[in-house]
Amino acid sequence: MSETPQTNPYRDMMGKAFANAIPLNAQFEITYRCNHLCTFCYNSPTGQRELTTPQIFEALKKMADFGVLYLTLTGGEAMCHKDFWAIAAETRRLGMALRVYSNGFLLGDKKVVNRLAKLGPHEVEISLHGARPESHEALTHIKGSFDKTVQALDNLVEAGIKVNLKCPITKLNQDELIGVRDIGEKRGLFVTFDPVITPKDDGNQDPLSLRPDDAFFERYWGELYQELHHGKLPPRANHCAAEGSEANCGTARSGFTIDPYGNILPCVAFRRQVANILEIDSLERIWRTSPVLNEVRDLAVQASDELRKHKDGQYFQFCLGVAEVQTGDPLGIYPQAEVNAGAVRKTYELLQIEDKNDGRKSA
Ligand SMILES: C[S@@+](CC[C@H](N)C(=O)[O-])C[C@H]1O[C@@H](n2cnc3c(N)ncnc32)[C@H](O)[C@@H]1O
Ligand code: SF4
Repeated sequence: MSETPQTNPYRDMMGKAFANAIPLNAQFEITYRCNHLCTFCYNSPTGQRELTTPQIFEALKKMADFGVLYLTLTGGEAMCHKDFWAIAAETRRLGMALRVYSNGFLLGDKKVVNRLAKLGPHEVEISLHGARPESHEALTHIKGSFDKTVQALDNLVEAGIKVNLKCPITKLNQDELIGVRDIGEKRGLFVTFDPVITPKDDGNQDPLSLRPDDAFFERYWGELYQELHHGKLPPRANHCAAEGSEANCGTARSGFTIDPYGNILPCVAFRRQVANILEIDSLERIWRTSPVLNEVRDLAVQASDELRKHKDGQYFQFCLGVAEVQTGDPLGIYPQAEVNAGAVRKTYELLQIEDKNDGRKSA
């Protein structure tokens, strides 16, 4: 008897959207204002005037008309925008699913979380930078921020809001990742670790000094990764790439980003200016005709081709934006990606040796 093929309508829809470059997601950086002072923050405000609230509403309408399904409010700290609640409510009124990226500080207050719950958000992603106040606050430079963020997790869970917990890996927290995972898992949360520290958007490379050394990543992609993820193997593609696609990632394809000045960008990491949202009639036309977007889509395919030539090609998680800001070339192999790929390859090689010994199928 033949097996019934496994179908997943959501994944199928996402796969088709990716293949046809139909952007279902958008990230909207509504302000660069923030109540934290994270040493490594990639934000690079230019001093220009940020969009006014009516202009933000106009941008939201254009995104909803274009068919964006999932709208992420981020920043800066989106919740520090003076009209955050009106903007979040408008997002929902326009029929888009609302995601909020937050440092969790303001969500440490139950009343704030209950107000958010009334908007029916799709999910909230919270950043945690350590398992102890000392490590988290060494990055945020805000006393009491650890307790607030952990309280936010409890408040969000209690209010029934879906939460993803995120932890960028730095020298300050590299020895307590299991503790960070446990903080999340104790609350039933999905926890993701980001192994790449990016330069600032203006090209300043200072944040890279917080990146753990290469020896740590050798360990991270080996036994530590599997311990953190309960035996799961490290991924061999970018989280935003679609299975079977020619493109390295979803830049200019599965979504786009709008910065606080209204500039449309291919994604949060690849910040080439496409156009200003206030100066276009509709996103539909610019999405198909913009030379910048078309070039970026081509570059994402070229990146896959280039990586295939590298000895560790199939193990790369490569970001064109980080490549451009770090090497001056969107296809330039930057050291972090290369070190990570080499370490992931070793893990797979090691497993294959074990496979041969005990006769299990290779990974
Ligand atoms: C710019 S913040 C905006 C949302 C919110 N303020 C927060 O901190 O979660 C988006 C995410 O980028 C991370 N981040 C900031 N600068 C970074 C860098 N240089 N490298 C890697 N991740 C960074 C933050 O920790 C956060 O998870
Ligand atoms: S909380 Fe987010 S936006 Fe604010 S400084 Fe930290 S990383 Fe940057």
